[in-house]
Amino acid sequence: MVVKIKANAKINLYLQVTGKRESGYHDLVTVMQSISLCDILTFERTWEQGVFLHADIAMPTDSTNLVCRAAEAYFRYSGEPFGIAVKLEKHIPLAAGMGGGSSDAAATLKALNRLDHDRFTIEELCSIGATVGADVPFCLMGGTQLCRGIGEVMRPVENNIKGKLIIAIGDERVSTPAAFAELDRLYDNFKNGGKSKAPTALMSAMKAGDLCACAPHFENIFEQAIEPTCPAVATWKQLLLANGAKAAMMSGSGPAVWGLFEDAATAARAKNALDEEGVQTFLCDFC
Ligand code: C5P
Repeated sequence: MVVKIKANAKINLYLQVTGKRESGYHDLVTVMQSISLCDILTFERTWEQGVFLHADIAMPTDSTNLVCRAAEAYFRYSGEPFGIAVKLEKHIPLAAGMGGGSSDAAATLKALNRLDHDRFTIEELCSIGATVGADVPFCLMGGTQLCRGIGEVMRPVENNIKGKLIIAIGDERVSTPAAFAELDRLYDNFKNGGKSKAPTALMSAMKAGDLCACAPHFENIFEQAIEPTCPAVATWKQLLLANGAKAAMMSGSGPAVWGLFEDAATAARAKNALDEEGVQTFLCDFC
């Protein structure tokens, strides 16, 4: 049996840090949204034991890859490992703040569970996923979720915005631990906590499907940490807004930037304008 799975990227529509744990991890309040940009993974059982990963781009495919780490976590939990060959078609930019690695990990857990006769519930897969990465449980659930804890405590959010999305990214890449370290420096290790209220105005406007009412409430604390060393983020946001986006913001720890458009024609024109500036862009939808 061959299992083929789409691993969707995510963007953050809201992201605040509420505190720092002794473990070094940060408590968050974030609205995460899955989008149609995706990697495609194909899984097949092998006679030989092990995880045999092949990617179509140059990237580590050893035990540091989140696909391998997710498989190891799954087999540790099930106690009955089997061999798998994984083909990874990579489309989500690496180290961009779009959860590409976490989504590949989530796809791996889903695929192994399917190859293992749907042995575990989605809740069990989420708890295995949380040991692999903070965003993996969200990537398993997908859709629009208000996430708390380190990202693993989820509540669905109703999102009725019918817009088109452009993702813009250049050659810069950001390491997530380095981005958190810069936030720690800016906020004195969050000794006094942070913004911990849920973004109720944003969530009501999302429910109402009112993009313009959402616009002033999109927030990402990481912009302050990343924009000084990656000025392209501000440039892309301005380009997106100048070309008709109703809102534009960096996703996660960056540096990918999203722009939200009310209609497909404006988004398509904006994509052409950004492409002419040499920015890599993806036209996509919420999903
Ligand atoms: O969980 P994940 O491996 O995706 O996290 C990568 C790094 O980001 C962690 O090692 C940690 O430094 C940081 N992180 C954090 N707080 C979170 C999520 C991630 O400090 N809630």
